[in-house]
Amino acid sequence: MKNATITGWGRCIPQPVVTNAELATVVDTSDEWITTRSGIKERHVSHVQNSDMATLAAKRALAAAGRKPEDLDYIVVATCTPDRQIPSTACYVQIKLGAMKAAASDINAGCTGFIYGLSMAQGLIATETAKTVLVIGSERITSYLNLDVRETAVLFGDGAGAVIVEATDEPVGVMSMILGADGGGAPSLTATGLGTEFIGTDADLAVIMDGSEVFKNAVVKMGECTVEATEKAGWTPEEIDLVVPHQANTRIIDAVRRRIRADDDKVYINIHKYGNTSAATIPIALSEALEEGRVAPGSKLIFVAFGAGFTWGGAAVKWGDRVTPINVIDDELPEPDMTGLEIMRARHLVFQS
Ligand code: UT7
Repeated sequence: MKNATITGWGRCIPQPVVTNAELATVVDTSDEWITTRSGIKERHVSHVQNSDMATLAAKRALAAAGRKPEDLDYIVVATCTPDRQIPSTACYVQIKLGAMKAAASDINAGCTGFIYGLSMAQGLIATETAKTVLVIGSERITSYLNLDVRETAVLFGDGAGAVIVEATDEPVGVMSMILGADGGGAPSLTATGLGTEFIGTDADLAVIMDGSEVFKNAVVKMGECTVEATEKAGWTPEEIDLVVPHQANTRIIDAVRRRIRADDDKVYINIHKYGNTSAATIPIALSEALEEGRVAPGSKLIFVAFGAGFTWGGAAVKWGDRVTPINVIDDELPEPDMTGLEIMRARHLVFQS
């Protein structure tokens, strides 16, 4: 059976930034509350479509892998904020890349989406249905935020991350995969106003979350997934070189770190810069960790996430030989013509009118 290894990585962070202090001018909150309760200092807000961020992250990942769009057999986009319900965002990415040999589909597993997408890539490769798979986590979740709902308006940000996953006979890549879901958690983290259930109703668009319920479940499940993925890979916790966790709250991440008795430097954190970017979080964090030299040849990595559904997942990934990109491209998103705060306010007014 073929192994599935990550050979390319990239991210796309939209330029507009909203600091906590700026957000506090339109949301009933404070920098102090957001920082101490979540660890977030600022977030980026997209001025382009989700598929535009996803496509740029994908181009960077393809360059890093030294691959061309026509090498791709499958494109999976993990997102809960698609450009449209029909067709999938993955199909937009396919045409924007010109990856005409690739099949394409989306996955919605909330914040766990990237790990679900990675498991799909692993399965496609193991069964030799595909050799080269593009897995993207991409979210434009600030578009869903209701600035009157302060419990969630301050937590999320936009961005995209992508990886190229390739078949190999070497003993590297995805070494174990743990996945789970509990649909009973649906009321604790949901979005109103979008979907067929709301057609003909006057429900406001809003992300609704029972923060403490989600927090408690996230701590338990992310801790369990980390331990189970490690054991299933045949590793001990001491062998883990870096945990790249979903970034929803520094206190959740710290609980996961304590569960495996790891030092701070074994857990990657970038939530202060981006907030919770849902399915985009892990591939964004992975690409930054690589750039910062936090991943070495043969590193033992754990990806772990918890999200809406509830869903959860953990993956043990043994890194290959290469930790530097083969190629780098200089493509950028277009310059925004509004500030991040202006974009958030404009979206809010449209949805509430
Ligand atoms: O990625 C998907 C998974 N998502 C998560 O994992 C998120 C999990 N939950 C959390 O990270 C935390 O529960 C939050 C950061 C959302 C909230 O932190 P908390 O320590 O659980 O606070 P809380 O919900 O218990 O609220 C404490 C207080 C409340 O006021 P009272 O009732 O104590 O007077 C809230 O009304 O903080 C108030 N509050 C706020 N105050 C200022 C809630 N949101 C805000 C806000 N600004 N934005």
